[in-house]
Amino acid sequence: MVGIGFRKEFSETLPRVRKDKPDFIEFAPENWMKTGGYYHRQLQKAAEQYPIFCHGLSLSIGSPDEPDWDFLADLKQFFKDVPVVRYSDHISFSQVSNAHLYELLPLPMIEEAVSRIAVKARQVQDFLERPLILENPSYYLVTEADMTEADFISAVLRESGCGFLLDVNNVYVNSVNHGYDPAAFLRSLPAEQVSYLHIAGHLKQPDGFLLDTHGEAIADPVYDLLKLTLETLSREVPILLERDFNIPAWPRLREEMNRIRRIQTEVREVQFAS
Ligand SMILES: [Fe+2]
Repeated sequence: MVGIGFRKEFSETLPRVRKDKPDFIEFAPENWMKTGGYYHRQLQKAAEQYPIFCHGLSLSIGSPDEPDWDFLADLKQFFKDVPVVRYSDHISFSQVSNAHLYELLPLPMIEEAVSRIAVKARQVQDFLERPLILENPSYYLVTEADMTEADFISAVLRESGCGFLLDVNNVYVNSVNHGYDPAAFLRSLPAEQVSYLHIAGHLKQPDGFLLDTHGEAIADPVYDLLKLTLETLSREVPILLERDFNIPAWPRLREEMNRIRRIQTEVREVQFAS
């Protein structure tokens, strides 16, 4: 299964696609809750044809504050109106004392953050009455750490029991920017908790630093890392192409989805044969 992030730029194309259709679509619920108008109608049309994954931006699971109950109530209502298959958000924070910071900010990689996320994840799941899936974010700064990123992500998943949205591009971007081996990183994560994958493009700066923009084509080393990721998983999981900026024409996106599909098929065939 290969899906694509819903964007208004191709909202008119999606309901008409016949060849190489995405298997599902994903969008941020915050962008569509309590909205109406032309693009909302386009989203509804797409939602009638495609299974829906919701990928949130505002949960702020790592904030020291209580969950934002008003936001969660709106989200719960939205999930009653829209048939959402999976719901995910990021291992990060974006809210402090009711101030929304509109960024996915990096958490300190410390035991206190792990315990806080585990408690909050339980509260969120109990309230929403559905499982929560958490994504490994890209980050550019380490604020505080008494463990490695791999240990931190693994501990969060172990203690919270949440599903894991493994973003392959984020692994690659972080591995370059923070100087670690992405393959070893991948192998140390809990493969059995992986719910689905993200893949996206990034922007390489002149000094080699990578920015997780979702505005470029997927880079070759990220495709290689996708292949390695699929080889470490013993089952097929959905893969979502994220393209949020600099949106190309549909055939270019279809090409990227088809390349992802080919890698998925290739790995599966080898796994079945062995
Ligand atoms: Fe992602």
